[in-house]
Amino acid sequence: MEIVVSGIRPTGNLHLGNYFGAVKSFIQMQDEYKCFFFIADWHSLTTHPHPENIRRSVKTILTEYLACGIDPEKATIYVQSDVREVVELYLYLNMNAYLGELERVTSFKEKVRKQPDNVNAGLLTYPTLMAADILIHKAVKVPVGKDQEQNMEMARKFARRFNTIYNVDYFVEPASFHLSERAVKVPGLDGSGKMGKSEGNAIYLMDDEKTIRKKVMKAVTDSGPTEPDSAKPEPIQNLFTLMEIVSEPSTYDYFNAQYNACSIRYGDMKKQLAEDINAFCAPIRERIMDISANDSYLEKVAAIGAEKARESAARTLKEVRNIIGFK
Ligand code: ADP
Ligand code: TRP
Repeated sequence: MEIVVSGIRPTGNLHLGNYFGAVKSFIQMQDEYKCFFFIADWHSLTTHPHPENIRRSVKTILTEYLACGIDPEKATIYVQSDVREVVELYLYLNMNAYLGELERVTSFKEKVRKQPDNVNAGLLTYPTLMAADILIHKAVKVPVGKDQEQNMEMARKFARRFNTIYNVDYFVEPASFHLSERAVKVPGLDGSGKMGKSEGNAIYLMDDEKTIRKKVMKAVTDSGPTEPDSAKPEPIQNLFTLMEIVSEPSTYDYFNAQYNACSIRYGDMKKQLAEDINAFCAPIRERIMDISANDSYLEKVAAIGAEKARESAARTLKEVRNIIGFK
């Protein structure tokens, strides 16, 4: 079975955009591939988070991925910092990574601009750590957003370079599996653009019914169409797109027909949309509550994941050490 690796940044709660844009693909992939999904807590150290924040956000992400349906029996889900083999490979890859190429990475240059007082070596070598995450399991496919393409190119370059330096045919170049090309873009309800944490317009999987209703009822609309079958302006289209994602096709068709007949009442549509979003989120929300109250289950899942990941990592590392000349 082909090997898939993906890292998840522990940056808070999952929203509908994360679910339909990424998590859903992970859930499908766990049936078709040998998947390693890990929480990238080492990567998060570049911004010097408070220890309590790390603990909390790692727990949140693990809980929410499990609640969404990542199955620890099918996929290996682990916390990056539990698998120390990764840092050893990171060190070896760093020996073959050059300052110039690391400095040219766009996301590094952006960070230099955004946090000029904290341009640390971890930030510079973020792409080598990411390459180590991937190569440690000899992954062939990596599900990532388009923004990760440059890091993926670096991972392929480091794999190639290792092979060249040691004159071996050891690492396979990992291919990107672009999530954004396969998944829907979930819009925000504030008139334009996508749903996102930093956009401040997110509906979270753990939002309760009242919160969901409040967020949906606030969605931007207009005074309604005056000509039958008119094109939908962006805020209205966004409402319909969200309905297409979470509601029954018949519900979507009903409101679409009303729109086309100029008889739409956005209040009714939003009420229905809020209900359907809640129906989607409610079972996930319940599982989030159950799982987050069950620390021993979470610890067990993390321990089993770490063990499986370490076994795979140790196998690679043994071969790598041998190739490099260590016994
Ligand atoms: P955020 O910061 O809003 O949580 P990220 O940029 O961290 O989102 O993205 C995490 C993953 O979720 C990425 O794979 C990204 O493509 C996906 N994602 C985030 N928002 C959306 C959205 N509105 N529609 C589709 N996918 C999304
Ligand atoms: N850099 C990725 C992001 O920001 C997270 C990540 C770290 C990752 N290591 C990885 C993704 C390895 C895929 C494979 O989203």
